[in-house]
Amino acid sequence: SIPQDLNGQHWVITAGPTMEAIDPVRYISNHSSGKMGYALAQAAQLRGAKVTLISGPVTLSAPQGVTLVKVKSADDMLTACQQAMTKTADVFIGAAAVADFKMKSQSHQKMKKQTNRDELQLTLVKNPDIIATIAEQKGANCMVGFAAETQDVIAYAKGKLERKGLDMIIANDVSRSDIGFNQDENQVTVITHEKTWSPEKASKQQLAMQLVEHIYQHTQSSSAD
Ligand code: C5P
Repeated sequence: SIPQDLNGQHWVITAGPTMEAIDPVRYISNHSSGKMGYALAQAAQLRGAKVTLISGPVTLSAPQGVTLVKVKSADDMLTACQQAMTKTADVFIGAAAVADFKMKSQSHQKMKKQTNRDELQLTLVKNPDIIATIAEQKGANCMVGFAAETQDVIAYAKGKLERKGLDMIIANDVSRSDIGFNQDENQVTVITHEKTWSPEKASKQQLAMQLVEHIYQHTQSSSAD
């Protein structure tokens, strides 16, 4: 049987893509499957944590015992995270692939096809950085982010760890077709301010269990400081 050592802890996890409306029928999004975030939610729940999973649109169903909050846009995801964290959470994991930009102004009517034009320009504005906002608001005792990179994986990931005010960042190389986005397996490097650790390539379920253990150990060692 699985040890219930996360009993009494609250873990908040974001997963999946966000969907940014252009008009009532069109949107901007990405190919995130949500698999890694859902696997982490399940792994933490199985060890006894209370888990709130805040998810953009995906085809997965909620793991047993996990509280699922469905959202579409990044703005909605941030609001849902803040509502889930009325009390400081123990762990926040940002596994969502949040769209970097949203429409400057959404059209409330379906945009008409302008047959006399060959080009259409959309004006986009930056979305809020959810994990950086939560970190700044001290929403959780341990803040864990993901970094999907195609080059200089470790260096870019370390930059994000600092810039976003995180305790841990889980980096993976999305230029490899065998791991990461939409795949069932993943290979990552886990970076904290103290050390880096690269577990072997594994299924997202197996990796999730190792990551949950690693995050839990990190919370234990830093609270002892
Ligand atoms: O900046 P970048 O998107 O590479 O950072 C990835 C990390 O930041 C992930 O943990 C992701 O969930 C989080 N993020 C976020 N809000 C954004 C952009 C990224 O929470 N607007």
